[in-house]
Amino acid sequence: MFEANLKHIHSISKAFFKNLQFLISKFVQKTIPFLFITDRSNLPPMIEINGIKKSFGEKEILRGVNLTIETGSTLVIIGRSGCGKSVLLKHIIRLLTPDEGTIIIDGQDITHMREKDIFKIRKDFGFLFQGAALFDSMNVEQNVGLALRENYSLTSGEIDMIVAEKLELVGLPNIQKMKPSDLSGGMKKRVSLARSLATNPKYILYDEPTTGLDPVMSDQIDELIKDLSEKLKVTSIVVTHDIFSVYDVADYVAMMHDGKIYFEGTPNELQNSPDKLIRDFLNRTDKKI
Ligand SMILES: Nc1ncnc2c1ncn2[C@@H]1O[C@H](COP(=O)(O)OP(=O)(O)OP(=O)(O)O)[C@@H](O)[C@H]1O
Ligand SMILES: [Mg+2]
Repeated sequence: MFEANLKHIHSISKAFFKNLQFLISKFVQKTIPFLFITDRSNLPPMIEINGIKKSFGEKEILRGVNLTIETGSTLVIIGRSGCGKSVLLKHIIRLLTPDEGTIIIDGQDITHMREKDIFKIRKDFGFLFQGAALFDSMNVEQNVGLALRENYSLTSGEIDMIVAEKLELVGLPNIQKMKPSDLSGGMKKRVSLARSLATNPKYILYDEPTTGLDPVMSDQIDELIKDLSEKLKVTSIVVTHDIFSVYDVADYVAMMHDGKIYFEGTPNELQNSPDKLIRDFLNRTDKKI
């Protein structure tokens, strides 16, 4: 009797462990691919801008902007001068806070996040401001290494190496000791770009990266933007007046007009659009070049 019970318990526990084994193997089969998955299409969109509105005094600049930028892609924003492109970029890193609407970065709502937490989010971003915005009192080396010195615990030797590497990347090796006042407009722009690349950001916002550069240098900067996006999977938003840049670097284009996104599509769709406003904008921009 006792032996029969023991046998019964033994067979039940055997079945239990067999089932458990089966469940664990199913769990592992289903979970492990998610842990190691590299297909970025399963990730949430990187930046979601939902209905943001912004006024300065009486002037309504953004009137409900909706935009989604997917991880790893390059979005180019175009639109007439003064339509709010720079204002929009500044919202993405919360240098400005919208009056209405939300900004979601990698699933996190940053619209009203505290400055302390925003600071952490900003660490993932490189921002190339319109106008070079270098600190005149610092030399090139100090300007490019600024974020590295302030936010990371690196030795000065490590910082020197990173600064040299980034200056090389923008085609300006060995100018570490020069002052911004000794640089041409184009050089300032490239030093500023080196500075925004110094921390190897996941996302880069470029505000007019090629303005003031000659065509050869503009092409080089476009190549660099493309390289960063393709090789390092950096997610980029580029505001530009340079229509060649649109066709060179964009996965998607958004055209702003009247405080909203008027057009969103591929460069090809933009080029073939019959819409009068778009045609006029492209023709005017073409003529300027
Ligand atoms: N901090 C601010 N305070 C008041 N008005 C502002 C502020 N920032 C921007 N504006 C106004 O918002 C409008 C849009 O400016 P923004 O710089 O975004 O234009 P833009 O599309 O980037 O133009 P551009 O192509 O010339 O760079 C402008 O009329 C500008 O004067
Ligand atoms: Mg601007």
